[in-house]
Amino acid sequence: MKSIEEAEIMGGTRVLVRVDWNVPVKDGVILDNSRIEASVKTINYILGKGGKAIILSHLGDGADSLEIVVREAEKFFPDVSVKFVRDPWNASSADGKMALEYLSNGSIAIIENVRFWMEKENDECFANKLAEFADIYVNEAFSVSHRHHTSVVKLAELLPHFAGFNFLNEYKELSRAFEPAHPFLFILGGAKFDTKLPLVEKFLNIADDIFIGGLNDLPASGMAFADNPKILLTIGDINALDANTETLDLLAAKIKEAKMILWNGPLGDYEKGFVAGTVALARMLSESNAKVIIGGGDTLGLIKPEIKEKIASHGFVSTAGGAMLDFLANGTLPGIEALKN
Ligand code: 3PG
Repeated sequence: MKSIEEAEIMGGTRVLVRVDWNVPVKDGVILDNSRIEASVKTINYILGKGGKAIILSHLGDGADSLEIVVREAEKFFPDVSVKFVRDPWNASSADGKMALEYLSNGSIAIIENVRFWMEKENDECFANKLAEFADIYVNEAFSVSHRHHTSVVKLAELLPHFAGFNFLNEYKELSRAFEPAHPFLFILGGAKFDTKLPLVEKFLNIADDIFIGGLNDLPASGMAFADNPKILLTIGDINALDANTETLDLLAAKIKEAKMILWNGPLGDYEKGFVAGTVALARMLSESNAKVIIGGGDTLGLIKPEIKEKIASHGFVSTAGGAMLDFLANGTLPGIEALKN
């Protein structure tokens, strides 16, 4: 995988940058802009070399315009011209093809939500239409690189391709879980136990303790590995909607002795308001001496920014959710493989 620093970017080089600006939006308000922030270094690097940054992102499932995100992104580039290209193949519209053709060096164009078109199909024709806009391709969207989609996989086949700074950092930091310092505690919350199962199976060989909580206790308690001394489950009622005091005490004792901790997934049924266990765990992790890696959109959404900052100061806060789980389970992602080829 080549870093963006190995790319030949000079005045006029057109760089297609796949970012993941799929940010949480509620009632027209962006709740967390950290995914935008995570891509700023790479975009500024391109602009600093006189290149043109042409941004691609999805938002949600493809029903909503990227416009609200464009307005937020503009705040990170106060001295740069940022154009929103709503209709990239329309030759007669000012926010169409012309905006890309006349894009000045050192400026940014943001294309409308890629899921408006054939993004999810990993479609060659759509990839070709995107590739015409650029000279090189940069993937700065680790958190969507578990998707076999056009702007993640196919596009990399058509242009010289590189990884952005945040992408490489995610790769480096999450890879630490494969050769951890011990004792290594893995905390798996959330729901959808079937998506966690491969992780439990893999990390039984790597971790010293695996706590399975959230809404996974019940299915996990019926598995053969439930008797393995490395597996820790909620103490008491496994149907409880949040972690109780005994369970948090158990985690506190393990956290105290751990040198590395990996956490993904809330401990309670947060959608019904059961967030106290998750909040308490985040605080314990922020105060621990271990290297702590956390991720998952739902988990991060429940933790206060200052607690996240404290965790980041002795660990890593991933921008990825599903991609983090897939990477940990498989050691790679379709978007990584596309950059390696
Ligand atoms: C995420 O939020 O995990 C990524 O942006 C991927 O989004 P998706 O689940 O809609 O593909």
